[in-house]
Amino acid sequence: MKKQFLNLGKQPIANRFIYKDQIENEFLFDLKVAFDEETKLVTQVEYVDPPLMFNEDYTYRGSMSNTMQKHFKELSNSLNTNPNLKILEIGSNDGVFIKNWPTDQAIAVEPCGNFAKETQDLGYITYPEFWTTSLSNKIQKNHGKQNIIFAANCICHIPDLDETFKAVESLLTEDGVFIFEDPSLAEVINNTSYDQIYDEHPHVFSVIALDNILKRNGLQIVKVDNLSVHGGSNRIYAQKLGTKVDSSVEKNKSYERVLGLDKFETFKRFAEKVEQSKRDLIRILNQCKKENKKVISYGATSKSTTIFNYCGVTPELIDYITDTTPEKQGKLSPGTHIPIITPEEGFDESVDYAYLGAWNFIKEISEKESKYLDRGGKFITHVPTVKIV
Ligand code: TMP
Repeated sequence: MKKQFLNLGKQPIANRFIYKDQIENEFLFDLKVAFDEETKLVTQVEYVDPPLMFNEDYTYRGSMSNTMQKHFKELSNSLNTNPNLKILEIGSNDGVFIKNWPTDQAIAVEPCGNFAKETQDLGYITYPEFWTTSLSNKIQKNHGKQNIIFAANCICHIPDLDETFKAVESLLTEDGVFIFEDPSLAEVINNTSYDQIYDEHPHVFSVIALDNILKRNGLQIVKVDNLSVHGGSNRIYAQKLGTKVDSSVEKNKSYERVLGLDKFETFKRFAEKVEQSKRDLIRILNQCKKENKKVISYGATSKSTTIFNYCGVTPELIDYITDTTPEKQGKLSPGTHIPIITPEEGFDESVDYAYLGAWNFIKEISEKESKYLDRGGKFITHVPTVKIV
C-alpha cells in the first residue's frame, strides 16, 4: 500500500521548455510522493502518462556534459571484452553510451523520435518505441536473446516496473546481465536533493526496493556499484535467480537499513527537511534581490523545474537561466517561465550569483568557470543544504 509523505505541489513537464504562446495550455499535475509498504519503493502517487514526456520534442541530451561522455566510455571499455556478446540499450537518448559499441553488436530502444533518429543515423538498429513485453518479444524474434541489457537513467522513468523487469528477464540469455543505473535514494535522503523527483522520475530507487521487485520477476541483484554521477547513483547488475551474489549487495542494503530507507517515518522526516530547504532558498534569493545583486541560474535542468515550481522561484528572483543545450535556448523554463539563453549571452561580468540548477556537475562547472569564481562570482546551491559557495 502506498502512503504519501510529500506534496511538491503543481508541477509542469520538467523537460518541456516552452515558448510564450504555449504558456496558456501548459500541462500541470500534482506531484505527490509516497512510500510503498510492501516493496519499500519510493514512488509517485499518480504517474504522468509517458508519451506526454517522451516524444519527438524531448530536450535532455546525455552527451551535453563531458562528465557523462567520459563515464559511459569508461563503462563500455570495462564491459567490452567479447565481440560476440549481444548488447541492447533501453533508452539510448542521443547515443552517448551506445556510440562506444560497434554498430553490428548493439541495438537501441528509444521512444523519443528525435533521438531514435540520431542513433539510427549513427548506424544502430533502433526501435523507436517504449520498452514493453511486446517489444521484448519482437526483439527476441528478430535478433535472439541478449547477453547484456543496459539502461542509464531510464528504468526509474518507467511506471510499471514488474512488466519492465519481466520483459528484460525473458530477453536475457541464461548467464546474461541486466545493468542499469539511476539516482540513489540514499543520496537523495542524505543531500535533501528532492529535485531528483519530477514527472520523469516516478520512482527513486533503494537497493532494498529494487531487489524486492526484481525478485518477484525472476531476477536478483548480484552486484552494486556506487557512482558519483547525477548527484549519486547506483549501478545495479541483475541476473537470473540463483546466480552468485557479490558482497556489495548486502553492504548497500545494510547501509540503507541504517538510513531507515525501509521505514515510512524516515520519509516523514525527509519531508520536513524539504520544507526547510524551500524556506532557506527563498530567504537567500530575496536577500540577494534586496541587495540589488544579479542572480541567474546555471543549467536549465529538469531538477530545477521541481525546485522553482515548488519554491515559487519566478523571473522576479532569477533574471534568466543559461544552458548549453540548443533545444532549450530561446525558450522559457517549465511552469515558472524564466527565459533560457546561451552561456555566451548570459554568463558575463554582470552576474553576481548563479543558482546551480546543474549542481550535479559542480566539479566540471567550477573548473570551467574558474574566472567567474576568481572575480568573486558565487554559486548558490541547495545541496546538501542551502548555501552560497
Ligand atoms: P542534468 O542535470 O539533468 O543532467 O542537466 C544538465 C543541464 O545543464 C543540461 O541541460 C546541460 C546543462 N549544462 C550547462 O548548461 N553547462 C554545463 O557546463 C553543464 C555541465 C551542463
